[in-house]
Amino acid sequence: MSTPRETHKFDVSLHGVLHSVVRRRMLPERPALELLELGSGLVALEVGCGTGYFLLPMAVKVGYAIGVDVSEKMLRRCMERVRSARAANVGLVRCGESTIPLRSGSVQRVLIANALHEMHYPEKMLREVRRVLCQGGLVLVVEWKKRCLFGCLSGPPKAHRLSSAETEALLIGAGFSGVEQCSVPYRRHYVLRAVKG
Ligand SMILES: C[S@@+](CC[C@H](N)C(=O)[O-])C[C@H]1O[C@@H](n2cnc3c(N)ncnc32)[C@H](O)[C@@H]1O
Repeated sequence: MSTPRETHKFDVSLHGVLHSVVRRRMLPERPALELLELGSGLVALEVGCGTGYFLLPMAVKVGYAIGVDVSEKMLRRCMERVRSARAANVGLVRCGESTIPLRSGSVQRVLIANALHEMHYPEKMLREVRRVLCQGGLVLVVEWKKRCLFGCLSGPPKAHRLSSAETEALLIGAGFSGVEQCSVPYRRHYVLRAVKG
């Protein structure tokens, strides 16, 4: 196995930050979700769903939404939000560091938001994402920009971030095609979309 990337996992005690007013202004979920071309007949997956900031609004737009996360504690917080939203079409499952416990070709859309940079083997996880996606399925990666104009004051340390060129190379290395940089109204994040061709 290749050398693990040096990184750290999100501190669960800071879970409130993920739903703060500041974050909603900085990273509104709608522009990213629109790029996923969601629809009521689709099954969508979020890898590294955390507390459900993207997962819950995604669930409103699809037939079934699945959230996977490596952290049991984050999933517990997410479950509380799923229950209070009475979202009946959401499933939560714990995944491994680079494994997703779903059948091959079983989902049509995958979102990975602010999570790829936390993974020790991001390309391996992207290969796993490709496995669970159906042919023609889309993956969307939302990540923190590596170039911080006034220092990286919020978000992960610069050393842990993945530049968009690095993420693009990881997607291509995992076998995705049609990798494109998407236009989004985010100042601190970039979004890449790719297809399982
Ligand atoms: C900063 S949080 C983002 C949560 C959510 N996607 C959002 O944007 O609000 C990163 C999440 O990725 C999860 N994570 C880190 N490494 C992971 C891995 N290898 N597989 C799945 N989830 C992972 C963490 O446990 C954490 O919940």
